[in-house]
Amino acid sequence: MTAPDLEQWERANRELIAKLLTEFGYEEIIALDVTDDGALTVPLPGATLTGRAVRRALGWWRVLPESLTAEGGGPLPDAVAVFTALLTAAGADASTVAGAVSELSSTLLTDARQLTTARPAAELADLEPVLAEAELTGHPWIVANKGRVGFGADDLRAYPPEARADVRLLWLAASPAVADAVGLDHHAVVRDQVGSEAFEGMRAQAQLGGLDPDTCVYLPVHPWQWAHRILPLHAPQLARGDLVVLGDGPARYRPQLAIRTMTDLDDPARRYLKLPLSILNTSVYRGLPRERTLAAPGLTSWLSSVVSSDAFLRETGLILLGEVAGVSVAHPVYSGLPGVPYQYTELLGAIWREPVQPYLRDGEQAVSLAALLHADPSGGTFAGALVERSGLPASEWVRRLHAAVLPPLLHVLYKYGAMFSPHGQNCMIVHRDGVPTRLVVKDFVDDLAICSESIPEHAGLTPAVRAALADVILDGKTLRKYLQNGLLICVDRYLAEIFADRLGVPEADFWASARSVLAAYQERFRGELADRFTMFDLESPTFPKLCLNRLRLFERGYADDPERPVISAVGSVPNPLSPSFVPR
Ligand SMILES: Nc1ncnc2c1ncn2[C@@H]1O[C@H](COP(=O)(O)OP(=O)(O)OP(=O)(O)O)[C@@H](O)[C@H]1O
Ligand SMILES: [Mg+2]
Repeated sequence: MTAPDLEQWERANRELIAKLLTEFGYEEIIALDVTDDGALTVPLPGATLTGRAVRRALGWWRVLPESLTAEGGGPLPDAVAVFTALLTAAGADASTVAGAVSELSSTLLTDARQLTTARPAAELADLEPVLAEAELTGHPWIVANKGRVGFGADDLRAYPPEARADVRLLWLAASPAVADAVGLDHHAVVRDQVGSEAFEGMRAQAQLGGLDPDTCVYLPVHPWQWAHRILPLHAPQLARGDLVVLGDGPARYRPQLAIRTMTDLDDPARRYLKLPLSILNTSVYRGLPRERTLAAPGLTSWLSSVVSSDAFLRETGLILLGEVAGVSVAHPVYSGLPGVPYQYTELLGAIWREPVQPYLRDGEQAVSLAALLHADPSGGTFAGALVERSGLPASEWVRRLHAAVLPPLLHVLYKYGAMFSPHGQNCMIVHRDGVPTRLVVKDFVDDLAICSESIPEHAGLTPAVRAALADVILDGKTLRKYLQNGLLICVDRYLAEIFADRLGVPEADFWASARSVLAAYQERFRGELADRFTMFDLESPTFPKLCLNRLRLFERGYADDPERPVISAVGSVPNPLSPSFVPR
């Protein structure tokens, strides 16, 4: 990675200042001083920024980057200086601010670089999904969205999606005494992944290393993880031959938007590989928790059987990318250390996830739901490109999108008392010539939660599945937060802006369209599920506002905690699905 170009740096800096003011305002970390007609003043030590902000339907302000001016007309301050001043004034402690500055700097460096490498948004429509994901700019809500703590400049050139670089995975063989494999037949899964020829080579290497090729476990390792965690921390097992290095696999992988889940570039119909990558990115270290890894196939089969046996879910065409196999190696010392930080118990393992391609019918294409929020540096939007391709009026396109996304999620929640986190990176949208048709959900195992209320639909949960979900059995009004904050806030909040500002659909209409899809669903199922509409109450006037930025900045900081963080709420948001909703 080279030094940033000044022009792109200044633009990225301006956009990041606007984003941090917007999102800190949304999360009530700062009180934005905006007049009724949108004039913004931000007093900072040594300088005052002025600009303009637009009131959004859910009552928050979007600060417009191009409007920002420093007092006296000089250059804007650095985003890190604005960030530091605001956070310090809001009471964040110095060690957290210092760490956050480094995450923000890493984000800015990548943002500036992406301005120079971006391609027109319309071009994303015909790319392989993983290649389209490489064009996106990251989490829309988290300010330091490409922090990637642990990566150096060389890593940034090699491993994140936007590097557009092939990643080769190292394969290890592990003695069954130290490794567990679950789900589909492990050796068949590995053979499918690498091909028969390479698999025979791996078996021979394992044997040379002293393992029985018929009983040992084979696992792929991300090269960064190998160099920074596995070689140093699993050295005793490597030295004694409980772990045997087999060398790089033949395939060229590309990272998906989640950075640690990989697609085989030459054969995207092979299973995706979700791997531990112990960098801190956005909210957590991206390891693989052992219990969830081992529970994944069981959770997948429960949810898959729900989908395949439910006539309505079949009708919606919902696709679940099942996590059908997994392996996990516990660290011999960390796994027995009371209070050990969670990052040390999630180091070595893999999950095999079904790819989307085999599910697609003729003429269908799938793309990350996050892509709908993408705008290129010239202002072209991917959503706009799909609307144009569809030939539909933009308002009708919005209706089709809600009709594809909402009903399956509503049904999983209302009927099965279950929810996962349907944020943009965890979902894909399937379209036919640009017309949204159905929803794909992945990563449902990591975030799957069920309601604590007793409902007959949970009778089929096996003890193992119940045990895996023990920590996430939530009352109905808490469970709904996944849908509200994951989809409505983390995706639709931004999509509504794009349609209002660039595609001529007022925000009020965007949300009214979502409400009418909810109403139609409820009409259809009122006879059967009316009590669930109350249990999960998606129509309350407001709902709790989860605060993703606050989590790091004011709650967890950079403490190396034993538990993964849980995002908490501050204040509430007007609920756009409520019949009493009035756009601000
Ligand atoms: N638009 C987006 N919305 C949400 N997350 C995004 C977005 N763009 C990039 N990301 C990144 O994707 C990851 C989302 O985290 P999440 O826990 O859902 O996925 P994961 O478990 O790491 O991987 P996978 O989704 O493949 O199972 C984070 O690293 C986040 O920074
Ligand atoms: Mg995810």
